[in-house]
Amino acid sequence: MSAFPHRHLLGIEGLTPPEVTALLDRSESYVEQNRRADKKKSVLRGRTVINLFFEASTRTRTSFELAGKRLGGDVINMSVSTSAIRKGETVLDTAMTLNAMHPDVLVVRHPESGAVKLLSEKVNCCVINAGDGSHEHPTQALLDALTIRRRLGRLEGLEVAICGDIVHSRVARSNIHLLAIMGARVRLVAPHTLIPAEAERLGVEVFHDMHEGLKGCDIVMMLRLQTERMQGNFLPSIREYFHFFGLDYDKMANAKPEALIMHPGPMNRGVEIDSVVADDYSRSVIHEQVEMGVAVRMACLELLSANLVEAPQHNI
Ligand code: NCD
Repeated sequence: MSAFPHRHLLGIEGLTPPEVTALLDRSESYVEQNRRADKKKSVLRGRTVINLFFEASTRTRTSFELAGKRLGGDVINMSVSTSAIRKGETVLDTAMTLNAMHPDVLVVRHPESGAVKLLSEKVNCCVINAGDGSHEHPTQALLDALTIRRRLGRLEGLEVAICGDIVHSRVARSNIHLLAIMGARVRLVAPHTLIPAEAERLGVEVFHDMHEGLKGCDIVMMLRLQTERMQGNFLPSIREYFHFFGLDYDKMANAKPEALIMHPGPMNRGVEIDSVVADDYSRSVIHEQVEMGVAVRMACLELLSANLVEAPQHNI
């Protein structure tokens, strides 16, 4: 029985603690390898990975590309600006076209929540969700968990404050699920307008004051204001937002002295985080998160493609 018995990785919701642990343990084994001069393995030899990104991305796309290449797979990158979507093709037609070329893994990012799942139901290969709308971004939550686990030795029992634009954040949603599965406690800290209506159901504590929300926490996870997903006015002004919700040393003083600062990137300095705090590497693990991202994606590619024992069936 595989340690991760799923065809796709579409979200964190519904995974079990042993499944999350299996992914993190496998990722751990790649961290050292990625620091060596020779970073190459042949685990994905003969396999094809297609990165299909319908939304802008720097770290996630690069990180999946490196992960696939370091495992010896053939990696193709497709972005919407160069795809036939621009010529009016639907997402599903694009996916089916790629499917006909027999990829083993499709890594998909799409601005609509649920689009990646829909696509996964039509293709024969494994699908990894690299972020769908404001729904889930499972590999981000895994890399955050790996970063925390390596620094603090555990996830269970930790107090994690997720702060900022939670309502639009797939990173927040995936992290809330993962941290709950692994026994950490989550607080959401944001203005009323940026807290999702379903917060109560997610089993989290909600705060509208940073000083209160950060009291005694082990992790402070900051999120970008995702203006590209905002329809209407969510905030009076950026200046006021930074004053009340931007992370600075004054607010950080409420957290535990050894508390870590995290951010999935891209960061908006002076909006959700003060530059000085972001660059304080005694507490900020932002670059470590990026490093862990490659290891996590290697583990995901490996464990999912290992489940494709036979060549995928083709029903087209
Ligand atoms: C996040 C995303 O795309 O959801 N970035 C990332 O993947 N590192 C967060 C964001 O865009 O703010």
